[in-house]
Amino acid sequence: MALAAARPALPALLALIGALLPGLGGGQTSVHPPEAIIPRGGSVRVNCSSSCDRPAFVGLETVLTKKEVAQGDNWKLFELSGVQGDTKPICFSQCQTQTIAQMSLVVYWLPERIELAPLPPWQPVGENLTLRCQVTGGAPRANLSVVLLRGEEELSRQPAVGDPAKATATVLAGRDDHLANFSCRTELDLRSQGLQLFQNSSAPRQLRTFVLPETRPNLATPRVVEVGTEWSMNCTMEGLFPASEAQVRLELTGWNLHPTVMYNNDSLLATAKEKVNTEEEGTQQLLCVVTLGHQSRSRQETVTIYSFPAPNLILSEPEVSEGTLVTVECETQAGAKVVLSGASAQLPGPRAQLRLNASAEDDRRLFSCSAVLEAGGQVLYKNRTRELRVLYGPLLDERDCLGNWTWQEGSQQTLTCRPRGNPVPELKCLRKDGRSLPIGDLRPVKREVAGTYLCHARSSRGEVTREVVVNVLYHRNHILTIILVTVGSVAVITCLAAYIYNRQRKIREYKLQKAQEAAAMKLNTPATPP
Ligand SMILES: *[C@@H]1O[C@H](CO)[C@@H](O)[C@H](O)[C@H]1NC(C)=O
Ligand SMILES: *[C@@H]1O[C@H](CO)[C@@H](O)[C@H](O)[C@H]1NC(C)=O
Ligand SMILES: *[C@@H]1O[C@H](CO)[C@@H](O)[C@H](O)[C@H]1NC(C)=O
Ligand SMILES: *[C@@H]1O[C@H](CO)[C@@H](O)[C@H](O)[C@H]1NC(C)=O
Ligand SMILES: *[C@@H]1O[C@H](CO)[C@@H](O)[C@H](O)[C@H]1NC(C)=O
Ligand SMILES: *[C@@H]1O[C@H](CO)[C@@H](O)[C@H](O)[C@H]1NC(C)=O
Ligand SMILES: *[C@@H]1O[C@H](CO)[C@@H](O)[C@H](O)[C@H]1NC(C)=O
Ligand SMILES: *[C@@H]1O[C@H](CO)[C@@H](O)[C@H](O)[C@H]1NC(C)=O
Ligand SMILES: *[C@@H]1O[C@H](CO)[C@@H](O)[C@H](O)[C@H]1NC(C)=O
Ligand SMILES: *[C@@H]1O[C@H](CO)[C@@H](O)[C@H](O)[C@H]1NC(C)=O
Repeated sequence: MALAAARPALPALLALIGALLPGLGGGQTSVHPPEAIIPRGGSVRVNCSSSCDRPAFVGLETVLTKKEVAQGDNWKLFELSGVQGDTKPICFSQCQTQTIAQMSLVVYWLPERIELAPLPPWQPVGENLTLRCQVTGGAPRANLSVVLLRGEEELSRQPAVGDPAKATATVLAGRDDHLANFSCRTELDLRSQGLQLFQNSSAPRQLRTFVLPETRPNLATPRVVEVGTEWSMNCTMEGLFPASEAQVRLELTGWNLHPTVMYNNDSLLATAKEKVNTEEEGTQQLLCVVTLGHQSRSRQETVTIYSFPAPNLILSEPEVSEGTLVTVECETQAGAKVVLSGASAQLPGPRAQLRLNASAEDDRRLFSCSAVLEAGGQVLYKNRTRELRVLYGPLLDERDCLGNWTWQEGSQQTLTCRPRGNPVPELKCLRKDGRSLPIGDLRPVKREVAGTYLCHARSSRGEVTREVVVNVLYHRNHILTIILVTVGSVAVITCLAAYIYNRQRKIREYKLQKAQEAAAMKLNTPATPP
């Protein structure tokens, strides 16, 4: 150790002597090359020579491993190897006096490690990102610079200071930076020393940037859901970047649902369909969490899951005979209330009752019961309807079938005759001559339908009879014809009578005349002389 520390002092001492005694004895020491730059660990040949006019002793003073590779009169060629750092070997020669010549040996080497510090896994857009690069090794430092890059774009260039050298750059993260590759590059520029530009780069690091708005996602769900029904819900969020990287979780009180997620440019839509079971009855929390980058936004909604069967509506008997007492009863689960149509106002409760004496009018009467439940702040209804059948009849009165129809012959009419009853009665209407009553459209009304019919309405419950009279008024023209014929007959008879009378009178007059002439002749013949 002590020796190693002492050795570097020797060239300095010799240099001092050389400086104090310049040009003494005429023989000068020279070195070739006076300057050299070599890669670390490399070797270099140094020619030490003396200008002495007689053979002189020539040597090289260095800490480096040296080897004499050639020699001539007043010169020696040394090879220095394993050069690890900058050094200044000194050539010396002994002519009359000793002179020296110092050379400068510069070592260059490329950095051993260039590393860009890891980037955050996700960088929020609009926030500053600091890139840090660390460079270990590399020389000569005066010619070494550190460049920070985004892709091929230079963000910052700084000289390498210290070892390890640290370089930083701040960039405002944008959407364009998503998936951009950042790297750090060292440049050892030895072009002025006749060498080249050596570049080394760190492994690239890819950045992922994101935008997650402060707003909460939208959670659309019904507030109340009935057990056993399918229930659909969806969770949406907009303004996301990159939307496709966003994760969404839908949870029902700790139970993970499996939503279908669709992504748009900057939004996502997660939909889920659930069929709820009885076990889930009660108040549940529906939660939607959207995660992007290392942040998340969530929204929770309360969903009430209820079970509410339709009320039980019971008729004491669904089909009864007229005059029977019927009980209508409606019942629902505890906590709900029922309203029974037709029942007198009662205190609303889970039960309601109605009694009635079944009449013909009650046949096909609908009884409806509406149950009301309040769940999750909503009023829910469940209704049930039952139909009562009453056996009655048969009935055939004035409103079912008019007993007296009077029509003009040839007019367009409709004859309606429908007996009432349950079961539906069968109707038969017959005239004495066996003709049946034409029911329905009569167009035109014919004289022949007139008459008295006997209608029988018959069902399993009995039979009723009713008389139906159909009058048909004939057309006026016939009466006129009768009048005309009568008038004409009277006229003909009158004329005939007048003629016969006239003729009889004329015959009588002639006979009288003849008798008078004969009488006159008998009287006048003897007594009349001219
Ligand atoms: C060393 O230098 C001397 C003097 O300049 C020269 O004569 C000699 O040839 C050189 N040797 C080599 C190997 O270049
Ligand atoms: C980002 O850094 C720059 C300077 O490096 C500063 O002017 C700017 O305000 C910073 N922006 C944010 C959002 O921190
Ligand atoms: C390299 O370093 C040397 C010594 O400091 C200097 O003279 C030279 O200009 C530098 N070259 C470059 C390209 O920086
Ligand atoms: C960044 O590097 C990765 C892998 O080396 C490559 O797939 C990707 O295209 C690069 N990104 C850009 C923006 O060049
Ligand atoms: C630097 O680059 C050179 C070639 O240019 C290569 O041989 C060397 O291994 C690199 N060093 C590092 C640390 O990457
Ligand atoms: C989301 O759900 C609500 C109610 O559950 C529904 O009205 C709406 O149409 C749904 N939207 C989409 C895009 O499916
Ligand atoms: C989404 O992207 C498509 C195609 O890239 C474009 O046509 C559409 O207008 C975009 N929609 C929105 C809402 O930005
Ligand atoms: C029902 O009404 C009919 C006639 O209105 C009556 O004769 C009968 O007694 C009543 N039945 C009962 C059970 O009240
Ligand atoms: C049930 O009845 C109530 C009241 O009568 C009515 O408001 C409601 O709309 C009904 N619901 C259904 C499903 O018929
Ligand atoms: C039928 O109607 C006619 C005319 O409207 C009337 O003259 C006749 O008396 C009625 N007959 C019966 C049985 O009601």
